[in-house]
This record gives sequence, structure tokens and C-alpha cells, in this order.
Amino acid sequence: MRGFIFGVIITLLVLFVGGYFYATTGHFDTRAVGNTPSTFERQTANKSLDEWVDEHAPKQANPFQPTMDNTMDGSMTYDKNCAGCHGSLKQPISPMRTKYYPPVPQLMSRTPDDPDGNLFYVIKYGVRYTAMPGWEGVLSDDDIWKTVIFIKNASQMKDNSQQRNPQNMDNSKSNSPPK
Ligand code: HEC
Repeated sequence: MRGFIFGVIITLLVLFVGGYFYATTGHFDTRAVGNTPSTFERQTANKSLDEWVDEHAPKQANPFQPTMDNTMDGSMTYDKNCAGCHGSLKQPISPMRTKYYPPVPQLMSRTPDDPDGNLFYVIKYGVRYTAMPGWEGVLSDDDIWKTVIFIKNASQMKDNSQQRNPQNMDNSKSNSPPK
């Protein structure tokens, strides 16, 4: 039994030290561009994010109604601070989408269905190990709630005369201005 426990400890030690040397001797590809998270990494990270946010996000309705004024306020905050990463109504797929690790969800082409409180929480506190910053102290809570209103309603504000499939993340189908 002692031999077995000793073996387990040695194995863990070898894995840990081996992993450390592998990573710190230039074998771990640290680029953001060209790397995509594996299915395992993505699922594990998304699950921990979902569980944490479900547990901690405010369980309240959005204090703002989706009126034209509130939506416009939200769209101004969004265009100034978020569109560069998340896409805008004019350019629903941002060129920065794949320039971060993990890649950035494009909110104008795929409306998140999470409760408003969850989106508020993610925007306010950001997401660790990703490019998503927390906006606490930069944007007021009111501005964050209104930005959520805009994100949730953006798909209805798109120009209906232009053909676009909201589920389509493909750049070629976006209505970016002609080059
Ligand atoms: C520098 C790039 C960057 C900027 C600027 C940025 N975000 Fe993000 N955002 C991200 C990334 C990357 C993620 C994905 C995080 C992950 O993988 O969990 C994300 C995730 C989100 C999500 C969760 C999406 C979902 O499907 O659940 C929301 C909502 C969001 N951002 C809103 C905003 C808002 C609002 C702003 C501006 C106030 C903003 N972001 C600014 C990079 C950015």
C-alpha cells in the first residue's frame, strides 16, 4: 500500500514538473491568433462561467423598459465601448472577432438569450482569462442595464431591407460597407 501511494505521488510530481518545464522552455504556444480553445477547454470554461454567473448575478428584471430613448442610450454606450470587439449594426462581424483567445461572441448577429441580470453581471465584472473587461467604475450601472436593453433588441433595429441570417456568423454574409 505504501509503495502504491508513493507511486501516485511520484507520478503527480513528474507530471507537474514535466508540465512546468514544457511550458517554461518555449514549447507552449502563447499566441492568441491562430489558436482556438479545444472542445474540452471551451466546455469546462463555459460551464464554470455559467455556474458562477447564475449563482451571483442579480435576480431582478432590467430596471429600464425597452423604450426608444433607453435603447438609443444603450446603443451609444455600446458603439463607443463594445462594437470594436463585438460587432456593430453596420458591421455585425468585427474583424477583431478571431484576434483574441478565446474568440469574441458577435452580439449583433447572435443575441444572447441569458437573463438581463446575467448579462449585466458579465458586463460589470468581465470574464477572467478572456478579453472581456469588467466595466465597473467606468460605466454606471444604469448605462450597463441600458446597454443590455440595446443588445437584446439590436436584432429588431437592423435594416430589414438587407438580407441577413441572424444565426450566420460567416463574414461573407454580413452587410459590411462595400470596400
Ligand atoms: C477587447 C474586446 C472586448 C470588449 C471591448 C468588450 N468585450 Fe464583451 N466579451 C469579449 C470576449 C472575448 C467575450 C467572451 C468571454 C468568454 O469567452 O466567456 C465577451 C463576452 C461578452 C458577453 C457575454 C456574451 C454571451 O454570449 O454570454 C457580453 C454580454 C459582453 N461581452 C458585452 C460587452 C459589452 C456591453 C461591452 C462594452 C461595454 C463589451 N462586451 C466590451 C470581449 C470584449
